[in-house]
Amino acid sequence: MRELLILTVVIGLIGSCNLYNSNTMKTYKSNDAHSYAIQEEAYVKHLDISLEVNFDLKSIKGEVIYDIVADTFAQKILFDTRDLNIHGAFILDKDHWQKVAFNMGLEDNTFGQSLSIPINSQTQKVKISYTTKQDAAALQWLTKEQTAGGDYPFLFTQSQAILARTWLPCQDSPGIRMTYTAKVKVPDYLMAVMSATNVRKKSKDGVYHFKMEQPIPSYLMALAVGDLVFDTIGPRTAVYAEAELIDKAVYEFGNMEKMLESAEALYGPYKWDRYDVIVLPPSFPFGGMENPRMTFLTPTIISGDRSLTSLIAHELAHSWSGNLVTNATWDDFWLNEGFTVYFERRIMESIKGKEYAEMLALLGYQDLEKTLEAMGDKNRDTHLKLNLDGRDPDDGLTDIAYEKGYFFIRALEDYHGRKKWDSFLRQYFEENAFKTMNTEEFCSYLKTNLSMSDEDWTKVRCEEWIYGPGIPDKNIRPDSDRFTQVDNLMLHWFENGDLGNLIKSSQHWSTHEWLHFLRHLPKDISSEQLISLDMAFGLTKCSNSEKAFAWYIQTIEFGYEAAEPAIEAFLISVGRRKFLTPLYASLIQHGKKEFALKIYKQARPMYHAVSKETMDELLGLTDFS
Ligand code: BES
Ligand code: ZN
Repeated sequence: MRELLILTVVIGLIGSCNLYNSNTMKTYKSNDAHSYAIQEEAYVKHLDISLEVNFDLKSIKGEVIYDIVADTFAQKILFDTRDLNIHGAFILDKDHWQKVAFNMGLEDNTFGQSLSIPINSQTQKVKISYTTKQDAAALQWLTKEQTAGGDYPFLFTQSQAILARTWLPCQDSPGIRMTYTAKVKVPDYLMAVMSATNVRKKSKDGVYHFKMEQPIPSYLMALAVGDLVFDTIGPRTAVYAEAELIDKAVYEFGNMEKMLESAEALYGPYKWDRYDVIVLPPSFPFGGMENPRMTFLTPTIISGDRSLTSLIAHELAHSWSGNLVTNATWDDFWLNEGFTVYFERRIMESIKGKEYAEMLALLGYQDLEKTLEAMGDKNRDTHLKLNLDGRDPDDGLTDIAYEKGYFFIRALEDYHGRKKWDSFLRQYFEENAFKTMNTEEFCSYLKTNLSMSDEDWTKVRCEEWIYGPGIPDKNIRPDSDRFTQVDNLMLHWFENGDLGNLIKSSQHWSTHEWLHFLRHLPKDISSEQLISLDMAFGLTKCSNSEKAFAWYIQTIEFGYEAAEPAIEAFLISVGRRKFLTPLYASLIQHGKKEFALKIYKQARPMYHAVSKETMDELLGLTDFS
């Protein structure tokens, strides 16, 4: 064995002496565990994309030209791919595209395959031609029946966290930024939009041109294709949606321009020119996705009373935290989401007042407590700084980043005072615009720019917040008088059976007071009381998705079976993972697994791959035939 080792080393040395000079032996290493790309060797700075969207084949045919920057000694450039058919790779050699032999790495279910293209020190452009496979995880191909209009199919992408590579070969790391132009051909009765400049009307020939001039990471690459119309909200804001939804959407998001102005007043100029949103069909697996210039939204936030629009504030806030200053790796995800939740609540505070923002914060605290209880207070995934090496980052991206992140930032604000903290943040976004940030860089930026001594650092318990489990400082729990009033009314009703008073007082409740009420129904509530609440407030029939969801969760817990048909209808029509996971989990936990499976079998074809993956695991399914 030892001899073999020596022999190998000797052969290796001879080989390296003969074939390469010592400089070319330079080794490169990726610092993002979730990407095969090695930025220090060669990186992409611009993409020129041509796509043809084929609804019959459920496939995108693509040709992408990449402007690259390579280290002098680089011999290859690495891309991430997953489930793509790569047809050819080329490098531009003196105005001439030269076909080159590319190399695909070993295939991994989560990370896909590296695509290695040989380059030399002169190479500035490479080209890849490819097609996507039917089950590309980022893409959801919807039949016409799955849309509001019912006449035309729909397609949308969801690239975060590492799914961009399933519809486009790219360096799929949040630490690598690029600009892009795109030409997209779709059937001429449909319209295409991207996270870029967009037109307002359908083109005659189904060809659309896009430009994203600000450098963005791959997880913000986005495309949606459908029977869309456009309507204006304000000078810089507008909505795209199917015609059936557009008026409702325009009303619901009526304060978007005001949100944009409030956000700028807080943390500096909006750097993306326009802020438009698109309302997607209900299978969209998230509430919202902050694709630059074109936030993707679930239709489940259209409640008719603008009560769920803090979600727009959230996606808008990402235009600073996330899109402008981006988490370097998914281990630093809290820098994206914690800051964004903080910023979201500050925007809501400026337009709706402190009381409103505190209700949001307290609901967030309740979510955090619940998540921590479920994850256990020793769980490493409850640290702000994560270690997701070898794992699908999607598994680690929990409420912790959002709510623990939010409360840590709030603790920092409390410590420094709002004035100082706000000017710090304005400077942070200005100085780090279009850059990436990891947790350690953020800490040193914080220490330097707010002159935090070791003593200050310890007082805020920064190390525990970032590198420890649970909530280090419980004093941070917000207070809400309006929720206390809800508690009192509930107690009064529960003890005296006085429903009249509850009916009268709740007429002025916001959705958030309702959520607090529904989340805190007494543990020993009787079925008669559940019936009387349902009769008085029409809870099972409620069309506000958040309220309905909070009620359904309780009905499962308390065995109130009258709500089951409504739960079934909800699970079959909505694909938003934040609703699906707790509902299916609760059904399983409360002896309703058969019912859950029956619904899931029917609903599964309607869900996006992101939701399917989570539900398959939850329901223990591997065979769906
Ligand atoms: N960027 C996220 C969505 C996301 C996170 C997609 C991780 C894939 C991986 C988006 O900004 C978000 O946080 N959406 C929330 C909105 C909520 C917190 C207001 C959602 O979808 O529920
Ligand atoms: Zn977010």
